[in-house]
Amino acid sequence: MTTPTQKDLISANRKDIHIDLAKSDASRSLRPHPLDLITLPHNALPEMDFNEVDTTCRFLNRTLSFPFMITGMTGGTMRGDTLNLAFAEVANQCKVALGVGSQRVSIARNRSQNELRRLAPDIPLIGNIGGVQLAQENGLDLAKAAVDDLEADVLAIHLNPLQEIIQPEGDRNWRGVLTAIEKAVRVLPCPVLVKEVGAGISLPVAQKLQNVGVRHIDVACAAGTSWARIEAERLPEEARDIYEPFLDWGHLITDILPEMRQSLKDVTLIGSGGLRDGLDLAKLLWLGCDIGGGASILLKALESEALSIQQVDLHKSLETLKEQLTIALFLTGHKTPVFRDEVSGIR
Ligand SMILES: Cc1cc2nc3c(=O)[nH]c(=O)nc-3n(C[C@H](O)[C@H](O)[C@H](O)COP(=O)(O)O)c2cc1C
Repeated sequence: MTTPTQKDLISANRKDIHIDLAKSDASRSLRPHPLDLITLPHNALPEMDFNEVDTTCRFLNRTLSFPFMITGMTGGTMRGDTLNLAFAEVANQCKVALGVGSQRVSIARNRSQNELRRLAPDIPLIGNIGGVQLAQENGLDLAKAAVDDLEADVLAIHLNPLQEIIQPEGDRNWRGVLTAIEKAVRVLPCPVLVKEVGAGISLPVAQKLQNVGVRHIDVACAAGTSWARIEAERLPEEARDIYEPFLDWGHLITDILPEMRQSLKDVTLIGSGGLRDGLDLAKLLWLGCDIGGGASILLKALESEALSIQQVDLHKSLETLKEQLTIALFLTGHKTPVFRDEVSGIR
């Protein structure tokens, strides 16, 4: 039994504030959306029946009804746990993968999240801890506990240096994170997925990760949720100026994904950061990712202004994503969500 530290209690409170901020416009990147610059090639002769389009795919040895993951957001507080339970139930119905937010607080507070596995027996569940926490003393024990508690199919390790720099109580020592990831890859009973939280993972960083054995990367690029903006909102007015130039810092997915796909042939790439609809999802697949991911769009669909949980809206949002993806596949003449080797020069 672990005892929550003062820092854990502050983290728990911060998590609920983050949810509110993530739902507000204050969290939105103000950069032009990079996917708006992409026009998928219309095929006026699709030569197939719309009903022949099959969006199913395999991910982490399970079948998804379309290539999509709700990326990790929350957990460890009453509100966070309630949200995750609703996500799990609907994700299992809709057959999409589900990530949880950092499990550090729930483990420190002995709030098991295992109920999520019971509610979602058929889909990949993705555990989550921070890269900095993994590199600290007992980091590997934390990682093992996170996998065990969730019966996770894969453990996501998040890299969020921008957020930690702006957060007053953030961790600023990023030494030893890659070595810690390498160890985790070797000893954990499941694969490791490395993700950003909205500033993107460049090709050189992805190559370092591949070299230590990581085979799943969620690039989580800029243009959607901006953690710099969220953390800046929590600061007193007079402390914000210094971070102003960094509010929309980060890689755009259109700049990194095609080259990354070409270089990292045996890495499963998850494309995310600002996903707005199923056409964005189709564009991410076109750019080279294996599956797409989204966070804030689904948070907004799930929780109403009055904070009540609207599972029916979440269900509808996921079905809409799938239908829009299906339309994009049909209109580009594809029966499956695989665009491999089509765009010469891009892959
Ligand atoms: C409220 C909220 C909490 C989040 N907490 C975590 C977290 O604990 N761990 C993590 O890896 N990512 C976390 N994220 C980041 C998301 O997984 C995602 O990478 C990021 O929000 C970019 O996707 P989006 O633009 O679709 O929101 C969080 C996102 C939101 C909106």
